Amino acid sequence: MSTSHNQLDTKSQAWSALFSEPMSELVQRYTASVFFDKRLWQADMRGSLAHAEMLAAQGIISQDDRAAIERGMAQIRAEIESGSFDWKLELEDVHLNLEARLTQLVGDAGKRLHTGRSRNDQVATDIRLWLRDEIDLILGLLREVQAALVEVASRNVDVILPGFTHLQVAQPVSFAHHLLAYVEMFARDEERLQDVRKRVNRLPLGSAALAGTTYPLDRERVARTLDMEGVCQNSLDAVSDRDFAIEFTAAASLIMVHVSRLSEELILWMSQNFAFIRIADRFTTGSSIMPQKKNPDVPELARGKTGRVVGHLMGLITLMKGQPLAYNKDNQEDKEPLFDTVDTVRDTLRIFAEMIGGQLNPATGAKEGGITVHPEAMRSAASKGYATATDLADYLVKKGLPFRDAHEVVAHAVKTAQDQGVDLAELPLATLQQFNPDIGQDVFAQALTLEASLNARNTLGGTAPAQVQAQLARHTQRLQGSQT
Ligand code: ARG
Repeated sequence: MSTSHNQLDTKSQAWSALFSEPMSELVQRYTASVFFDKRLWQADMRGSLAHAEMLAAQGIISQDDRAAIERGMAQIRAEIESGSFDWKLELEDVHLNLEARLTQLVGDAGKRLHTGRSRNDQVATDIRLWLRDEIDLILGLLREVQAALVEVASRNVDVILPGFTHLQVAQPVSFAHHLLAYVEMFARDEERLQDVRKRVNRLPLGSAALAGTTYPLDRERVARTLDMEGVCQNSLDAVSDRDFAIEFTAAASLIMVHVSRLSEELILWMSQNFAFIRIADRFTTGSSIMPQKKNPDVPELARGKTGRVVGHLMGLITLMKGQPLAYNKDNQEDKEPLFDTVDTVRDTLRIFAEMIGGQLNPATGAKEGGITVHPEAMRSAASKGYATATDLADYLVKKGLPFRDAHEVVAHAVKTAQDQGVDLAELPLATLQQFNPDIGQDVFAQALTLEASLNARNTLGGTAPAQVQAQLARHTQRLQGSQT
């Protein structure tokens, strides 16, 4: 074979003249990443085009070479999009596959593309570009889920259900207030992702293998071309750290943890014992043996998939620990967990937005098929379990009793009501007065009804309808604007 052979084409033989034997098929499969990292092809191409543009502007390659590279890349794009591109395992990864094909198509110009860069800064750039775009999609989906929750909440401000602590009936709350708690969580997730995005969106390219390069690159120019917010300032760090991927996966884990908490509630609320809500049949499945069953598979799976995303966080963080500077092949293992995290979060949020808020009926312009709320079941549950006991204690405090004494008085009243199998509001006034003579007829309207209990919690962040309306207005405005 001639000495001018294309090294990339003959890698199935051996890497270069330095190697005395080729890889075994097993080792080739073990070390290759093309079957998963080909997903980065668009980012890889964008990075290459920006690099070539800069090389030409700096006079490092000719404008003719740059034009040839662009032509070749356009052809490769068409091949990949039509499915005719021949991905080769022996070319190891997406980078070498694209570069080898480019060289086949445009000759020496293709071989010049790799001037002043290495696969180490190339792959770090690719993941960042790809992840940045995925973050933007996830941010949009997070807002869709929030909008769905706000929409259902806005119809249910006056719907009352028991609020729990320790899953024991605690105090009545507005269903809207309950849903808006999740909106707060997802709003923080949104903030977190926006913050992560800033650190993802920095350019490693130009760090070359690890130490920088001898060519007069203009890295700032490449960053601008790629819409990146900054340039990584240390070449060793730039090619090696994957903290941005870890941070993203941590933020994604929290998104899933929030989804999982919501799922747990949807599952409880759907059970016959609660019957607070129904989710549309298309999100449930039947049982092969019990004909009456309708199982909340979607929220259960979301709860389960949370484990998988948290697992990826553990995987990535462990991958990084113990790696000396600079690039190590360990880092190739960053991709599958990251891809799966993105896929899982995206699918989950997309499904949740629809499961909660429904889908748009183009004929009516309204959303249909979201969760169905059963206000009567919620109310009846809130009327059991002495949810207004704290209100009775607060009522007595207003009459001058110290809170601790009031607490004790109400404990006696609850005991009596329990013995009689009735709610506090069902005890006759005369019975209530046996516990404290200051209790008057107004106790029913001011303390013992569910509405009174809600209305009384009229401090910022409380469940009083007036407060809930204010929060709804804030979220609605926030979600309509472009800012968090
Ligand atoms: N496929 C590799 C990865 O994902 C690309 C970088 C390879 N660099 C190297 N020096 N072997 O990390």
